[in-house]
Amino acid sequence: MSTRTIGVVVGSTRKESINRKLARALIRLAPGSLRCEIVRIDDLPVFNQDREKDAIEAAVRLRRQVAEADGILFVTPEHNRSIPTALKNALDWVSRPYGENKWAGKPAGIAGTSPGAVGTAVAQQHLRGMLGYLDMPTLGQPEVFLQFKDGLIDDDGEISEESTRKFLKGFMDRYAAWVEEHAG
Ligand code: FNR
Repeated sequence: MSTRTIGVVVGSTRKESINRKLARALIRLAPGSLRCEIVRIDDLPVFNQDREKDAIEAAVRLRRQVAEADGILFVTPEHNRSIPTALKNALDWVSRPYGENKWAGKPAGIAGTSPGAVGTAVAQQHLRGMLGYLDMPTLGQPEVFLQFKDGLIDDDGEISEESTRKFLKGFMDRYAAWVEEHAG
């Protein structure tokens, strides 16, 4: 089995992001067949169709990283019962210009965490709809709706609770199999 490169897109841009902690935990739990790397989205300007063909460094870089990846793992917070602006912005930049959608065909996984009881479930449903339109085959199960509690995951992605660690490990194993099935 060859090594697969996974671009990890974290939907939060804040320094102490609990979703970045979750992303680091998932990267640590990934099987050896995956090489996962967080890709930046915080330096993108607000999408403007007038500028979609311009050589904007952050957009050019992100499109290249997505094009070169074998799969994309989204780890996102929920903002006002949908996905955060920064994530929508990244989806838009990489989907354009028309006919050059770089997300197409990339096997996707979705995870997210929130202090709230629904654990980003509503945002993830919205994201699934968008990824369908963007032509990304997206893993259906397990769904990772993780309610975050203080100390659950540290800055290095170390998980304090064994049941959560096992669940997230299972998710990464399923995602790796999904990538193997759907990557070109
Ligand atoms: C939130 N938060 C939130 N939480 C949730 O479960 N459902 C929601 O709809 C919202 N809405 C929302 C809107 C906005 C603008 C903010 C800033 C926050 C709370 C959110 O889950 C919390 O801030 C998390 O810490 C965000 O994840 P990161 O940024 O720490 O990864």
